[in-house]
Amino acid sequence: MKILAITNQKGGVGKTTTAVNLAASLAQSGLRVLLIDLDPQGNATTGAGIFKREALPTVYQVLLGQVSLAEACLKTDFGFAVLPANRELAGAEVEVVELERREYRLRDALENAPYDFVLIDCPPALNMLTVNGLVAADAVVIPMQCEYYALEGLSDLVDTLKKVRAHLNPRLEIEGLLRTMYNPQSTLTQQVSGELERHFGDKVYRTLIPRNVRLAEAPSYGKPVLAFDKNSRGAQAYVALAEEMLRRQAQNEERT
Ligand SMILES: Nc1ncnc2c1ncn2[C@@H]1O[C@H](COP(=O)(O)OP(=O)(O)OP(=O)(O)O)[C@@H](O)[C@H]1O
Ligand SMILES: [Mg+2]
Repeated sequence: MKILAITNQKGGVGKTTTAVNLAASLAQSGLRVLLIDLDPQGNATTGAGIFKREALPTVYQVLLGQVSLAEACLKTDFGFAVLPANRELAGAEVEVVELERREYRLRDALENAPYDFVLIDCPPALNMLTVNGLVAADAVVIPMQCEYYALEGLSDLVDTLKKVRAHLNPRLEIEGLLRTMYNPQSTLTQQVSGELERHFGDKVYRTLIPRNVRLAEAPSYGKPVLAFDKNSRGAQAYVALAEEMLRRQAQNEERT
């Protein structure tokens, strides 16, 4: 089982879009995939076609230890499972702090879960929810827009990862940096993108996610873009990303 946290404390960079569409793309290649919505906004939940009813057990009850992971996970129509979230999760922030092993709640819940890939959609903040995501994860995927402030935000995130590694989860790695909403026509985008490659080298995915309106439309139909318009550039990009990830993983396994 490989557990990846999709994270960036900056808002609106494509975390949820990446989590939902990567889940669909990996599931399409026959892998057992769980998407965990760790954001009280619940965008990954609705984006995967799950209607946020209040009575539903969610990741909130799992973090509090009231239900098991298996009890709260739901099947989607797209070949992967979802551990949903809703507004209630905002309260977990305060409640989890009172509990023992507060940073390890999600990690403990995931022990022996029957999946090949677990993707965790983190909220745009560095709070106890995100810490739970980072402690549960083997590695992080960092979506980012190639804009002026992106690199600055990235160094904050790298500092945070160092702290988590030092105190809570020594195995946490950077799986990859993903350039999202990519516009090849912009000079600034190209500059920032080049700088990113200089700093992070092979950690930067070769796959670029273009700005594509179908990616933005799909969530309002409760579908990953693969199920909404599989020929769109957005759908193809996320399929290519899944392939790149699996290829890299196979290469790493060969080496070790
Ligand atoms: N490649 C893309 N092309 C066009 N629109 C995109 C693309 N990626 C994301 N979007 C749109 O940009 C907005 C922000 O994306 P998304 O919700 O995935 O970001 P996020 O990082 O999860 O945001 P938050 O920090 O609020 O959780 C959404 O409206 C989404 O549909
Ligand atoms: Mg999001």
